Amino acid sequence: MTTGQAVDSERKEEFAGRMVRVVNDACLGYLCSLGHRTGLFDTMAPLPPSTSVQIAKAADLDERYVREWLGGLTVAGVVEYRPADGTYWLPPEHAASLTRAAGPENMASLLQDLALLGIVEDEVLEAFRNGGGVPYSSYPRFQELQAEETGRVYDVALVDAIVPLAPGLPERLRAGIDALDIGTGQGHAVNLLAQAFPGSRFHGIDISPTGIAAARAEAERLGLDNVRFDVVDTADLSGTYDLITAFDVIHDLARPARTLDAVAAALRDDGVFLMGDISASSNLEENIDHPLGPTLYTFSVFYCMTVSLGEGGAGLGTVWGRQRALQMLADAGFGDIDVEQVEGDILNVYYVARK
Ligand SMILES: C[S@@+](CC[C@H](N)C(=O)[O-])C[C@H]1O[C@@H](n2cnc3c(N)ncnc32)[C@H](O)[C@@H]1O
Repeated sequence: MTTGQAVDSERKEEFAGRMVRVVNDACLGYLCSLGHRTGLFDTMAPLPPSTSVQIAKAADLDERYVREWLGGLTVAGVVEYRPADGTYWLPPEHAASLTRAAGPENMASLLQDLALLGIVEDEVLEAFRNGGGVPYSSYPRFQELQAEETGRVYDVALVDAIVPLAPGLPERLRAGIDALDIGTGQGHAVNLLAQAFPGSRFHGIDISPTGIAAARAEAERLGLDNVRFDVVDTADLSGTYDLITAFDVIHDLARPARTLDAVAAALRDDGVFLMGDISASSNLEENIDHPLGPTLYTFSVFYCMTVSLGEGGAGLGTVWGRQRALQMLADAGFGDIDVEQVEGDILNVYYVARK
């Protein structure tokens, strides 16, 4: 050692062991992503112990690839293997975290982000050295993955659990109000609300033309006539509304303070701003036990902070935290703010803000 610091050999061994587990689990993440994208987890979930030939046939995939994938999942303890008859089995307790039927519990879907973030590693490295960030255009599947990720939460929780966090809001939506969703992405949240509350009028905005195109296509598919979508920067929003929502958006923005000012200006006097954002503290030391702590900071470095800095923005980062959010909402003129959580959702908090 050149540092002159004493090394506790037990601690060193323990950490080395942990890093081996990190290497294995990180690699397993890629196999799980493929398991999701190929549909292999969904195919295996109802199957009895089956050979790789049977599984490949059921999933309509190339057997050689399926066999190698099964090997990886077997040694990782995800799949059980019986050498006597060469069969593989996905226990239902594991399927419960890996299949599309698992809805918000499906972690394999989330692991698709590993490959997406890997694409920009060279650009992120460049930003570490020279500052700046990475443009949205560098993340080809972002809108699609984001919509898949949050859509399964909205499907089960938006109307029945998230909207009621604001007292009186379901009743007002039923009676008929004007609502705006900023940074709407592919607009699934807005389309669900427009469907659930046909008496209200909904508007979704985003800077992503592909996101807005997908949002319009879904609205058309659903035959909705009380929703519209436009490509608009949140910092330049106009019009007035009774409800404004922002789900997982503010910390990504280049101009979050200006956007919050614009939101406050666009809200009618008795209006509600419902802001869903990451559940975390603004104090690093309070995030150490966060169940998704390393994931949040990784997403921040590879996407959230970095897209904002890429536009010369504030770079709040994924983990800007509750204290900072409350301060920025207060600075924008919100005098009445409740912080709420939906049971079972460890990722988000919801700020119910009024002026
Ligand atoms: C993390 S995604 C959230 C999307 C959606 N609200 C959801 O819950 O799935 C953030 C969204 O903010 C959009 N966005 C980023 N900067 C924006 C800006 N200045 N104006 C409008 N939208 C913006 C991105 O294009 C992206 O769709």
